[in-house]
Amino acid sequence: MTGNGVSGTVGIHDLSFATTRFVLPHTELALHNGADIAKYHIGIGQRAMSVPAVDEDIVTMAAAAAAPVVARHGTDGIRTVVLATESSIDQAKAAGVYVHSLLGMPSAIRVVELKQACYAGTAALQFALGLVHRDPAQRVLVIATDVAKYDPDSPGEATQGAAAVAMLVSADPALVRVEEPSGLFTADVMDFWRPNYREAALVDGQESISAYLQAVEGVWKDYREKGGRALGEFAAFCYHQPFTKMAYKAHRHLLHCCGEDTDDAVVDRVLGRTTAYNTVIGNSCTASVYLALAALLDDADDLSGRPVGFLSYGSGSVAEFFAGTVVPGYREHLRTAAHREAVFRRRPIDYAACRELRAHSLPADGGDHLVPTQTEGPYRLAGISRHKRLYEARCGLSRHP
Ligand code: COA
Repeated sequence: MTGNGVSGTVGIHDLSFATTRFVLPHTELALHNGADIAKYHIGIGQRAMSVPAVDEDIVTMAAAAAAPVVARHGTDGIRTVVLATESSIDQAKAAGVYVHSLLGMPSAIRVVELKQACYAGTAALQFALGLVHRDPAQRVLVIATDVAKYDPDSPGEATQGAAAVAMLVSADPALVRVEEPSGLFTADVMDFWRPNYREAALVDGQESISAYLQAVEGVWKDYREKGGRALGEFAAFCYHQPFTKMAYKAHRHLLHCCGEDTDDAVVDRVLGRTTAYNTVIGNSCTASVYLALAALLDDADDLSGRPVGFLSYGSGSVAEFFAGTVVPGYREHLRTAAHREAVFRRRPIDYAACRELRAHSLPADGGDHLVPTQTEGPYRLAGISRHKRLYEARCGLSRHP
């Protein structure tokens, strides 16, 4: 179906997120590097960033995000798990296979990992929608999980972060019906990349901002040409937020391109409720646009029946714009208390502690090494042995050998 159509009744049935044990407030970063704190709080719109413990990674966050979804809905009908990440832990094995094991899921499931910088979570969602359209009895577990890591003392350092979002995609969804068409855009740009031999990403910050804005123009043009909704129909816009100010830059740019009023109040009305989690979690890459959705659903007045725009951008670059309609009654299915708890229970650390955690890496000598216990979360990275990561579940679910 094209042209403002609700595409069947397929979409996001449940959404849950998890983040890390530790948090670095930007005040601590400013104390370290002498920056004016207003640059962070106002200039880029960030107040804090999630920092993983040594025994947390994309797998433990993904399992922690997905466990409540599996606990609520069971695994019946889930025949696919798609995990999107740009901070992959293995060049061959999909991180989702560890998650599948930690969650004790049945063996009759396909598991795959997707990559295209911060965009891949949306690719995973779109692939999931296609599978459910093909067989509406099936459900797909989509997980977007990332640790954003830049070199210490680089400009990117202020835009680190970490989180995972798990979404159950199904027919007759309880939260958001995803619509056709999508607007698409791809351009070969070197604004952000991470060669296989590097743990920290490389970024050309200003190039990444202009590439993002170019992509916004591109996806909107394609979206409208394919018969998408008019700008004024949307109650809110969930943008990829590498830093929350980027959503404001992007939306102003879109309004400007469409010859619309770019007044602060106009922009704030459609973005203001989407930034609460990203501003204190930092860049969660593939998860970021769906953390914006979580914040919107958790914080906004009743959005039942209202269209929401989604703008997903991944450096390199690929972008997509699509619409979703919020399902009446969605508020009964939200996880607002658990989401706020995930943010508030993080332990604040100072810059020195953050730097130490960031410098930690697993030994690569092939020996047997235990990882110190730091996290209190339900899943942890327990060690490494013969180059194999060992995970454990603390909550009585399955245990990975
Ligand atoms: N008070 C208020 N605002 C201030 C300020 C102060 N004291 N000092 C600086 N600012 C503003 C700047 O004007 C700028 O805003 P603008 O872009 O609207 O003009 C903003 O704070 C950032 O300042 P800038 O000098 O550009 O910071 P930077 O060189 O440290 O780089 C990023 C910022 C975001 C480019 C950098 O953190 C980065 O490269 N991050 C990773 C890449 C990324 O996230 N890309 C986004 C697309 S995916």
